[in-house]
Amino acid sequence: MYTSHELARIAADAARQVGPYLIEAFSRPRTVELKADFHDVVTVHDKESQRRIADFLFAETPESFIVGEESSRMLTCDGRPGTPGEGDVVWYVDPIDGTSNFASGFDHWCVSIAAARGGALTAGVVYQPTTNTLYLADDAGALRNGQPMRVLDAPVEDGMIATEFPSARVPDPEEAARGFTRVVAAARSVRRTGSTALALAEVAAGHFLAAFNVGTHPWDVAAGALLVERAGGRYLGFDDASVYRRDPQNAPNFVATGSRQAALLALSAVGRADAKALAAGVWDA
Ligand code: IPD
Ligand code: CA
Ligand code: CA
Repeated sequence: MYTSHELARIAADAARQVGPYLIEAFSRPRTVELKADFHDVVTVHDKESQRRIADFLFAETPESFIVGEESSRMLTCDGRPGTPGEGDVVWYVDPIDGTSNFASGFDHWCVSIAAARGGALTAGVVYQPTTNTLYLADDAGALRNGQPMRVLDAPVEDGMIATEFPSARVPDPEEAARGFTRVVAAARSVRRTGSTALALAEVAAGHFLAAFNVGTHPWDVAAGALLVERAGGRYLGFDDASVYRRDPQNAPNFVATGSRQAALLALSAVGRADAKALAAGVWDA
């Protein structure tokens, strides 16, 4: 059985080996295809990056499963849909997180790879090829380029908060805009960086006080969720009905921070009537 440390090392190698390909592709003009609508773009490089990462991961761990953005379904080594058992490793792969940035020539994008067993995250990396920065989490902790990371716990007026909320898809844009405005007023600054995986890595590094978003997918958040937890913060994954305690990567919405006050602000911004109780339950625990 692979240890958390071994899985993190494999994920780091998988992310690094695709870096030169992506840097080269990023240096040339890029053609964009639309997915769901004009807000949702993809390039041939997302697909090629996922293919290269999957080949690498399956060569190292042939019995594992992969859930990658460009295929969406859980796949086995031979490319067939499959269902993992309790002890099986599942890789969550976002071959380029921040595709819109990548396609526009803005160099804030990354590769995100995480490993889970029995639903529980055990290793994760976020790799930014343009700066050659590697964020890595395993059972021993969280590192940025080999140096230990620690989340911030500060008053919201002293911190930056990253969010992509509201997106064009929120059901009540006016209410969402009011929530966003409350965060802008309360925090030192707010950033919409275009890469949720990197935003979470920056929370783990203590650069952002908090990150929150809605409507995310497991490959966007799996590695970042573990980075935040291992750096001493809390990652709360939730939907309208429940809190995802064992497998937070499967929740569509999240708040991630080391600060109870920032969590409360973010939960109230996204319209949680029970923000106080929720923040108390997670950040005071
Ligand atoms: C997107 C980014 C963005 C988030 C979106 C994701 P992509 O991923 O993480 O920050 O708000 O929900 O879809 O498409 O660039 O991999
Ligand atoms: Ca993504
Ligand atoms: Ca992506």
